[in-house]
Amino acid sequence: MKDVSHHLVIVANRLPVDRVELADGSHTWRTSPGGLVTAIEPVMRHGDGVWIGWPGGVDVDVEPFTDNDMDLVPISMSAEDIEGFYEGFSNGTLWPIYHDLVAKPEFHREWWDSYVAVNQRFAEKAAEAADEGATVWVHDYQLQLVPQMLRTLRPDLRIGFYLHIPFPPAELFQQLPWRRQILEGLLGADLVGFQLPGAAQNFIRLVRQRVGHKTHRDLVYLPDGRTVRAAAFPISIDAAGLEELARSESVAARAAEIREALGNPRRVFLGIDRLDYTKGIYARLRAFGELLEEGHFDVEDAVFVQVAVPSREQVEQYRLLRDEIDRLVGRINGDHGRIGSPAISYLHSSYPREEMAALYRAADVMVVTPYRDGMNLVAKEYVACRYEGDGALVLSEFAGAAEELRQAWLVNPYDINGMKSALLEAYGADERERTRRMRAMRRQVTQHDVKAWAESFMTELADVGTHEKDVRPA
Ligand code: F6P
Repeated sequence: MKDVSHHLVIVANRLPVDRVELADGSHTWRTSPGGLVTAIEPVMRHGDGVWIGWPGGVDVDVEPFTDNDMDLVPISMSAEDIEGFYEGFSNGTLWPIYHDLVAKPEFHREWWDSYVAVNQRFAEKAAEAADEGATVWVHDYQLQLVPQMLRTLRPDLRIGFYLHIPFPPAELFQQLPWRRQILEGLLGADLVGFQLPGAAQNFIRLVRQRVGHKTHRDLVYLPDGRTVRAAAFPISIDAAGLEELARSESVAARAAEIREALGNPRRVFLGIDRLDYTKGIYARLRAFGELLEEGHFDVEDAVFVQVAVPSREQVEQYRLLRDEIDRLVGRINGDHGRIGSPAISYLHSSYPREEMAALYRAADVMVVTPYRDGMNLVAKEYVACRYEGDGALVLSEFAGAAEELRQAWLVNPYDINGMKSALLEAYGADERERTRRMRAMRRQVTQHDVKAWAESFMTELADVGTHEKDVRPA
């Protein structure tokens, strides 16, 4: 690594690379799962900052290192940290509360203690890594206490926080026994960013009601004279970079190979998700299975490719979901598949960017149906890869992306019949209709890419508290 202190420090639960143990006891690094890494990586590549995070695994004690031109500072986690902080409070308590209670949250005081302790460790590492007056950008629900802890350690820093997932309505957030501590943790930042304006409004309302601070529009006035701003910054992707990859000859050849291997059906449906109960994978496959059952098409007309990236496999609800989907896929394939032509090609694995781009190119209908999702970058990635302006997107109304991609076939994932109609419409839509919708979506995605997202967040972060309007009214 070049130097020990930095002017920009990114703090996220995960590093962009994950250390994986191989069967022979050796290890390798692979890209970490999820949208956060997809978004932040291109931002980091163009800067000279440092990224602090967990390298995955238990007690992985590695020195700071450089990967792909990025300076990385690993934070090790013990088996107890993983159980209490990561699987417990982050993914067993916060994740379901922040996603509309799609699963039942659990509240355990030991999990909370672990969350506090691990957040403190991240804050201390960030305090060590930051130059005098540096900017620190903290990411996501796992680290909501870091802004306040870091401010106590280093009042000279400019601190931004960005939440990649939804922020719940007050009625749900209030269930948290530690609601006040979390709000105070976030208020350590100068700027708190959310995916959607509604989330920022939920936060401001909660701060007023629960912490009692004075607020005006998107500003919170703290008793010590500091101002905090809460606003929406819808996240995006490196659209140009992905399109360039999608246009490459090797990706085109691979896309043709995929279609061939699927038996060259008229239409290929595609789903790509982390295997998570918020993503609505079961409901969408059921809808597809019923369309086959009712004879709207058969496997020569349409097949479904579902990529389910393994995720949080030690958490009970994730294991149950995997079993349910395995059973459903087995049943649909048993009922409707033919030798060499399964109705659903189900892949429980993660793939490199090239393979994903080839899948996006091979798919006629992309199906993204979460019950609740902060943004969903897969929807934007599909649009970025369809440079010829064709292809259809079926998108849940409850994904943040639906606010921008209005020309998708929008669906309510709780309504199976509604979803079936949308899948059928997308399947049968003529070229003119598909192109009209896709062209409009492509304008949105190419004009609002991840670079624009990061720049607008950074500009606002540098600005908060510098205007007269930010000063607390008498
Ligand atoms: O984007 C939401 C998010 O939870 C990230 O914070 C996280 O890194 C990613 O999804 C993948 O989840 P996990 O880190 O638990 O594997």
